[in-house]
Amino acid sequence: MMEYEAPLVEVQNVTFSYQGRKHPIFEEMNFSLEREKIGLIGPNGSGKTTLFHIIMGLLVPRKGAVLFKGNTVHDEKGFQELRKSIGLLFQDADDQLFSPTVLEDVAFGPLNLGFSPEEAREISRQTLSNLGLSNFEPRITHNLSGGEKKLVSLATILAMKPELLLLDEPTNNLDQETRFRLIDILNNLDLSYAIISHDWDFLEKTTREVYAIEKGAVTQCERACLHEHHHAHLYGDHPHHHED
Ligand SMILES: Nc1ncnc2c1ncn2[C@@H]1O[C@H](COP(=O)(O)OP(=O)(O)O)[C@@H](O)[C@H]1O
Ligand SMILES: [Mg+2]
Repeated sequence: MMEYEAPLVEVQNVTFSYQGRKHPIFEEMNFSLEREKIGLIGPNGSGKTTLFHIIMGLLVPRKGAVLFKGNTVHDEKGFQELRKSIGLLFQDADDQLFSPTVLEDVAFGPLNLGFSPEEAREISRQTLSNLGLSNFEPRITHNLSGGEKKLVSLATILAMKPELLLLDEPTNNLDQETRFRLIDILNNLDLSYAIISHDWDFLEKTTREVYAIEKGAVTQCERACLHEHHHAHLYGDHPHHHED
């Protein structure tokens, strides 16, 4: 028997406007995320962050629904379940980190999931170790650099063993070294994710498809979004043209 696997997350016919704003950001918009690694580009203010926050249940649409694995998420309780499987990396790491030390911050998620303090600490240690961040354990979160905060934020999410990551402009204000480190980490993750970014080169190295969000709609990028890329094919070493 063929088994139909629903997309991990779907946004169906969603209409959303911010309080006091006349024009909706989205009107009857549809979007679905399969088990894949995708990029999401779009002009400033086009609603990229808003879309992620709708998926997480942090913003409530006026119309339409969010579906998780084919089931409509009906209420806050449903979104609490969804948030156990989907990790959002906020645009600003200071929105993510709030515990005194790195280890406590990373342990917070597992604790919340019901693990004992000992188990939570062990999971945090393992997660930090997987990311090569073991030496960060005792660091005071507040004193980390921007790039370090970004990596620790990612650790707080990965410690919850999510099925999907939503990364909101992860390379903003990132130094080159941390940026490369993040590319490496993402490429070694056996996880689905969607990345909002203006950083084409980063998306090219970390995702397989790129979608554009503009005027309230999400479309798969084709020629309109062509970008620099490296690829291997015959004559690849020589200057060459691609036919339309
Ligand atoms: N809390 C808010 N209240 C009112 N308007 C908002 C709020 N947050 C964002 N907006 C507006 O909604 C639009 C989409 O914002 P956002 O989703 O953050 O865009 P993007 O992430 O693509 O840059 C922008 O015009 C922004 O100014
Ligand atoms: Mg944004």
